[in-house]
Amino acid sequence: MMASGRCILFISIVVAIVLFYTSWYPCSFHDHDYELGLERAYTWCMETVKDFIFQDSIVIADVHVALVSTKTFDVDSYSAKGDGKKDDTKAFKKAWKEACSSNKAAVFSVPKNKKYLVTPIQFKGPCKASLTMQISGTILASTQQSKYKKDERHWLRVDEVDNLQIEGGGVIDGNGAIWWKNSCKVDKDRPCKDAPTALTLHKCTTLVVNNLKVQNAQQIHVSFDTCENVQASNLTVIAPEDSPNTDGIHVTRTQNIKIFDSVVGTGDDCISIVNGSKNVQAVGITCGPGHGISIGSLGSKKAEAHVSDVMVDGAYFTGTTNGVRIKTWQGGSGDASNITFQNIDMTNVTNPIIIDQNYCDQDEPCKEQASAVEIKNVVYQNITGTSAEEDAVIFKCSKKYPCQGVVLQEINLTQEGGGDAKAICNNVDLTYIGTVIPRCPNNIVQINEHLKHIVTID
Ligand SMILES: *[C@@H]1O[C@H](CO)[C@@H](O)[C@H](O)[C@H]1NC(C)=O
Ligand SMILES: *[C@@H]1O[C@H](CO)[C@@H](O)[C@H](O)[C@H]1NC(C)=O
Ligand SMILES: *[C@@H]1O[C@H](CO)[C@@H](O)[C@H](O)[C@H]1NC(C)=O
Ligand SMILES: *[C@@H]1O[C@H](CO)[C@@H](O)[C@H](O)[C@H]1NC(C)=O
Ligand SMILES: *[C@@H]1O[C@H](CO)[C@@H](O)[C@H](O)[C@H]1NC(C)=O
Ligand SMILES: *[C@@H]1O[C@H](CO)[C@@H](O)[C@H](O)[C@H]1NC(C)=O
Repeated sequence: MMASGRCILFISIVVAIVLFYTSWYPCSFHDHDYELGLERAYTWCMETVKDFIFQDSIVIADVHVALVSTKTFDVDSYSAKGDGKKDDTKAFKKAWKEACSSNKAAVFSVPKNKKYLVTPIQFKGPCKASLTMQISGTILASTQQSKYKKDERHWLRVDEVDNLQIEGGGVIDGNGAIWWKNSCKVDKDRPCKDAPTALTLHKCTTLVVNNLKVQNAQQIHVSFDTCENVQASNLTVIAPEDSPNTDGIHVTRTQNIKIFDSVVGTGDDCISIVNGSKNVQAVGITCGPGHGISIGSLGSKKAEAHVSDVMVDGAYFTGTTNGVRIKTWQGGSGDASNITFQNIDMTNVTNPIIIDQNYCDQDEPCKEQASAVEIKNVVYQNITGTSAEEDAVIFKCSKKYPCQGVVLQEINLTQEGGGDAKAICNNVDLTYIGTVIPRCPNNIVQINEHLKHIVTID
C-alpha cells in the first residue's frame, strides 16, 4: 500500500513537472514577438497557464495534497462529547498525540458551539510538523481540585512546541471561582498556595496566539514562559475585579514577544513582565479593571533579576489600581532597563505612573536592605488622563541605588473630577522634556549641573 502510494505520488509529480514546463514553453520569448508582440504574447501565455491550472487541476491537487496540505485532528473524532459535563481529557490527549506525531502540518481542532470539560493536560512537543490549535469551542476547566494534585501550577500546558499557532475565536475558561474562594488573599486563615495558570506556553519558539478569549483563570490567565519569537494578538482576557492573583498575560524568561490589539480586565496585573524577559512589546492594549501593566515584581527573596528592552506603545487604562508600574523588592539584585511607556491614556487610575523599589507584598513589613534591583533608562512619553488620587506620579526609588535616566516627556495627568495632581519623587535622576504635569515638588529638587537634569533626594 505504502509503496504504491509513493509510486502514484512520484508519477503525479513527474506528470505535473512535464505539464508545467510544456505549458510555460510558449512563455519564453521568440524573436518574432520580441518587441511589438511582447504584451500579447505575455497575455496569451498567462491564459495558457490559467487553462493549464484548471484543466490539470487533478494533477495539481494531487501534488498539493501530498506536499503542503494539513491534516485535521478533531477532538470529536476521538470521542470527545463536548457537553460541558463529561470529562473529555482522554480524547484531547489522544487527538494531541496523533496531531503532534503527524508528518503533515496538523490542525488540532476543538469545534465551535461545544463545551469540553478538561482536567490538567500537557500538550507536549516537539511535534513532527507545524501545528495549529484551532480552538473554536469552549475548553472548560474541571473544578475537581484532586485532579490537580500532580502539578498544582498548570491547567493547560503546552511544552516545547515550535512553529505553533493557537487561534480560532474560542474560549478557554479556567472556571476559577473555587480557587479564588480558597486563596489566602480572600480567606486569611488559609495557607498561601499556588493555583494553576490556565494556559501556559513553555519553551515554545515561533509562536502565534491570535483571536482567543481566556476567562476566569484559577490564577494567571496566559503565561509565556521561556519562549522566543512570539506574537500574541486579539486576545480578550476577562475575570472579576476581585479575583485574586488573576494576572492577564504573564511574560517570564521570554524574548522577542509582541502582544498587541488585546483587551485585559482581571483582578491582578493586566500584563506582568518578570525576570529573564527581553525585547517585549505591548502595543494597543486596553486594561481595566486590574492592577495595570507591570514590570516585576523583581528581586523577591534576594533574587537576581534582569528585564530589558520593554516598549509599551498605545494603551488605555480605565479604573485600574496602577497604570504603568515597575516594582522591585529590597534586597534583590540585577536590573530593569531600557523601558519606554508611550502614547497612553488613563481614566481614573489610582497610580498612573509608579516606580516602587520598596515593593512588599506580604503581611510582615519588609526590612530595609542594602541591595536593590537597579532601574535605568525609563522613558514616559505622551501620557495623559486622570488619576483617582492626588499622587499621579510616584517614584519611590532606593537611596543606595537611585533610579537613573528617568525621562518624563509630554505628560499631563490631572485628578479625576478636577484638581491638580502631584508627584512624589524619591531618589530619582529625572529629566523633563516638553510639558510635564505634575512635576516633582520644588523643595526636594536639586539641579545636577554636570548632568543637566534634576536629581531628587529623599
Ligand atoms: C478578533 O477577535 C474577534 C472576536 O473574537 C473576531 O471577531 C475578529 O475576527 C478577530 N480579528 C482578527 C484579525 O483575528
Ligand atoms: C533570573 O533570570 C536569570 C537569567 O536571566 C537567572 O540566572 C536567575 O536565576 C533568575 N532568577 C530567578 C529568581 O529566577
Ligand atoms: C540599553 O540601551 C543602551 C543604549 O541603547 C545599551 O547600550 C544597553 O546595552 C542596553 N541595555 C540592555 C540591558 O540591553
Ligand atoms: C498621544 O497618545 C494618544 C493615546 O493616548 C494618541 O492618540 C496620540 O496620537 C499620541 N500623540 C502623539 C503626538 O503621538
Ligand atoms: C474612580 O476610582 C475610585 C477608586 O477606584 C472610585 O471610588 C470612584 O468611584 C471612581 N470614579 C469614577 C468617576 O469612576
Ligand atoms: C491637561 O489636561 C487637562 C485636562 O484634560 C486640560 O484641561 C489641560 O488643558 C491640559 N494641559 C495642557 C498643558 O495640555
